[in-house]
Order: sequence, then C-alpha cells, then structure tokens
Amino acid sequence: MSKPLDDKVIIITGASSGIGAATAWKLGAEGAKLVLAARRIERIERLAQELGKEGITAIAVKTDITKRSNADHLVNQAMKYFNKVDVLVNNAGVMPLSLIKNLKVDEWDRMIDTNLKGPLYAIAAVLPIMREQKSGHIVNISSIAGRRVFPGGSVYCATKFALNAFSEAMWMELTSRENIRVTLIEPGAVTTELAESITDEDVKAWFRERTQIKFLEARDIAHTVSFALTQPAHVNVNELMVMPTEQQM
Ligand SMILES: NC(=O)c1ccc[n+]([C@@H]2O[C@H](COP(=O)([O-])OP(=O)(O)OC[C@H]3O[C@@H](n4cnc5c(N)ncnc54)[C@H](OP(=O)(O)O)[C@@H]3O)[C@@H](O)[C@H]2O)c1
Repeated sequence: MSKPLDDKVIIITGASSGIGAATAWKLGAEGAKLVLAARRIERIERLAQELGKEGITAIAVKTDITKRSNADHLVNQAMKYFNKVDVLVNNAGVMPLSLIKNLKVDEWDRMIDTNLKGPLYAIAAVLPIMREQKSGHIVNISSIAGRRVFPGGSVYCATKFALNAFSEAMWMELTSRENIRVTLIEPGAVTTELAESITDEDVKAWFRERTQIKFLEARDIAHTVSFALTQPAHVNVNELMVMPTEQQM
C-alpha cells in the first residue's frame, strides 16, 4: 500500500533527540527516506538502526550545523546515497535562556550560530539542488519565541524572530517564483531536552514554575510537520503556531 511520503528524501537536523527524533519516526512511517543530522553521532546511528528494523531507510551524518562545511557535507551525503533532496527540516536548536544583565555572551554566540546561522547554512547547501530539481520543501522550526518576547528570552527570541523574517523572505523569493515550498512552525512549550542547557539560576527558577502546565509532546510537532509535507503540490502551509492548551501567550 502506498504511503504519503513514499520515496521522498528528507534531511532532518537535530535528529538526535526531541522534536527531530519524533519527526524522523513520523515521516519514516509515512514512507520517507531519511538523512539524520546531529553532533551526537552515536544517537543518530542508533536511531537509524531502530528505524531500519521497522523497514524505514535512514542514514546518519555527524553534523555540527554551526559549521558551513558540515552543512555542505550533510547535503553531499544525502545526494550520494539518494541522489535528490525533497525536504529539509531545519530543526537543530539550543536555548540557554538568560537575563541580559548576566552577560552570558558565549551562550548568545552559540544561539546565534546554531539557531540562525545553522538553518542558513543548511538552506545554502540545499538550495542549488532544489532549484535544479525545480521543487523542494523547507521546514523551519521556529518557536512562539519568534512571535513573542519574554524576560530571559532576549537572544533566543532574536534568533527565532530572525528565522521568521528569513522565512517570510523565502515565501516571496522562493515559494511563488521557484516552486520551493517553505513552512514555518512555531511551537509553544514541548517536553524535550532543550531547557537542560539553561545555566542562569534566575531563569531556571522561572522555568520550574512554568513546568506546572501540560506541555506538548515532541510527536505533536512531528504531526504538524507531517501535515505541512503531505498537502498537495499546489498548497503551501506558510505558518503554524502550535501551543499547549494551558500555555499563556
Ligand atoms: N522544546 C520546546 O519547548 C521548543 C519550543 C519551540 C521551539 N523549539 C525548537 O525545536 C527545535 C528542536 O528542539 P527540541 O525541543 O527537540 O530540543 P532538543 O531535544 O534539545 O533537540 C535539539 C537538537 O538540536 C541538535 N543540535 C544542537 N546544536 C547543534 C549543532 N551545533 N549542530 C547540529 N545539531 C545540533 C541536538 O543534537 P546534538 O546535541 O546531538 O548535536 C538535538 O538533536 C529547536 O530549534 C527549538 O528551538 C522547541
């Protein structure tokens, strides 16, 4: 029986945990061939093996998305194994939230490099292929933090606002003109490892209060990605904000 994503070749960055790993399972179950990217190679190799046991084709490519050469290598590997790239899911991200006054400048750099420059490098690597194919779909995993600013979120929000701005330009330059669909997904709070990188004690305390509400599960966002990818070719799902029911805007 045919599946909605049969033979689609899909690159997922940040596939070693959370939303990326859940998305790999969802899209793989729908027939996609997967290229899994992250720095923790042992995790994505294990995931590729587990997917393989379920009949899903997946390769693992060790990738530090903050390095342009790694993004190029990732896409080259996808081409080497599958000879095309239908979809890029720009999911890798970090969120060491902190108050501005604490001047955690190294963490600011890391967020800008991972959450903004990372997707840009991946897009730069994949775009010539999608333009040549005259088709493609790029999914940018942004955040509610790309639409609303909150205390402690200054630089994280700045990276996601920037990703949103870049996505809007992509709709104008690439979607209508080049048949490259672009979907921006903005989740609210999701239960993943993301908050573990927070070192600022003030923000940690605030986060403990926030975890009283029922968060989204990673698979909820995987379903959202699948929804965008399985629409007919003439439908571009531009933007989806998905929030826990109990989370305040
Ligand atoms: N959880 C939430 O509440 C939430 C809400 C809105 C948006 N988001 C967004 O969702 C995306 C996924 O986050 P998550 O919640 O699933 O968190 P997660 O479980 O911490 O996953 C983050 C992923 O990003 C990867 N990553 C981090 N730095 C990387 C780098 N330099 N190069 C390559 N991969 C890197 C990690 O892999 P390695 O460490 O193995 O490299 C990991 O696979 C992020 O963009 C995040 O901003 C999350």
